[in-house]
Amino acid sequence: MTARAPGQPPDGRLRQAAAIPPTTGADVPPLSVQELVVRFGGLTAVDRVSFTVRPGTVHALIGPNGAGKSSCFNAITGIYRAAAGRVMLGERDLTRTPAHRMAGLGIGRAFQNLALSPRSTVLDNVLLGRHALGRGGFLATGLRLPWVVRGERRHAARAAEICDFLGIARHLHRPAGGLPYGDQKRVDIARALAVEPTVLMLDEPAAGMNAAETAEMARTIRDVRDALGISVLLVEHDMGLVMGIADRVTVLDFGRLIADDTPQAVQRDPEVIRAYLGADDESSSREEGPA
Ligand SMILES: Nc1ncnc2c1ncn2[C@@H]1O[C@H](COP(=O)(O)OP(=O)(O)OP(=O)(O)O)[C@@H](O)[C@H]1O
Ligand SMILES: [Mg+2]
Repeated sequence: MTARAPGQPPDGRLRQAAAIPPTTGADVPPLSVQELVVRFGGLTAVDRVSFTVRPGTVHALIGPNGAGKSSCFNAITGIYRAAAGRVMLGERDLTRTPAHRMAGLGIGRAFQNLALSPRSTVLDNVLLGRHALGRGGFLATGLRLPWVVRGERRHAARAAEICDFLGIARHLHRPAGGLPYGDQKRVDIARALAVEPTVLMLDEPAAGMNAAETAEMARTIRDVRDALGISVLLVEHDMGLVMGIADRVTVLDFGRLIADDTPQAVQRDPEVIRAYLGADDESSSREEGPA
C-alpha cells in the first residue's frame, strides 16, 4: 500500500494504528465481479451480477432476505462454484480458486457464524490466519530450526499488533470462547487480517449486536479502511451501519443487481425502496439473523 498512506485518524482513536504497519507492500487491486451466476439446481441465486470493489473503499452488498448476498459472497471466496462469470482481483482470475487458497492471494474472510476455536487462546486463533502465509515446511517446523522459531516469534508479534489495533490485546491469552460476543467477532476479523489481505470480506459483522456494539463495529471497519488502506466487502443487514460507513453500495434483489451507487443515491432509488418495502412482511425473520 505504498500509494495510499493512511490518513490521520479522524477522532484520535487510532493511536494503536501506529503499531500496525501497512498490511502488504503492494498496491491494493480492485476486486471485480463480472456477470457472476450462482445456481442451486433450477434456482438462480445470483443472476449475472457485476460490480467492482475499488481499492481502499468499504463496499456494501445489501438486499432483502434471499436476494443472493451470501451466495455471491461465497462464490467470490470459492466456497460455491460460479456457474458463469468471473471474479478478478486485479489481473488475477480468482474464479476457480478453491477457498483454502484465497487467503494466500490476499482475500481475508471473517465468517458470519463464528468459526473460532473456543478453547484456544485469542492469540492462537489469530495465528491460524498466519498459517495461510505458509512458512517453514513440515520438517523444518518439526525440528524447530532457528529460522522457524524466529518466524514464529515474528508471527506472534504481528498477531499481537493486529489484536492491539482491534482493541482486543487484553484478551490475547484468554480462551476465545469466553469473550463477549462483540470481542469474539473482532477475533474473527483479526484472524482475517492476519493473512495480510488486500480485501477483507465480512459477512454480517454486526449480526446479533446491540446498537452500541454495532456502532463500535462500524468504527472498527472504518479504521481498517483508513489505517490499512485495504478494501472491505461487507454483507450487512443493518442499514444504519451500511449507510454510515460504505463508500459504495450494491443492491441485490431476487439474485439481480438493482442498484450500484453511493449510499445517498441508493437510499433514494425507487427500485431499492420498492424491493425493501415489498419485503416488509419478512422483516421479522430478517432481524432474527439471516443465513
Ligand atoms: N446451499 C443452498 N442450496 C440451495 N439453495 C440455496 C442455497 N443457499 C442459498 N440458496 C437459495 O438461494 C437464494 C439466495 O440465498 P442467499 O442465502 O444467497 O440470500 P441472502 O441475500 O444471503 O439472504 P439473507 O439475507 O437471508 O442471508 C435463496 O432463494 C436461497 O434459498
Ligand atoms: Mg445471507
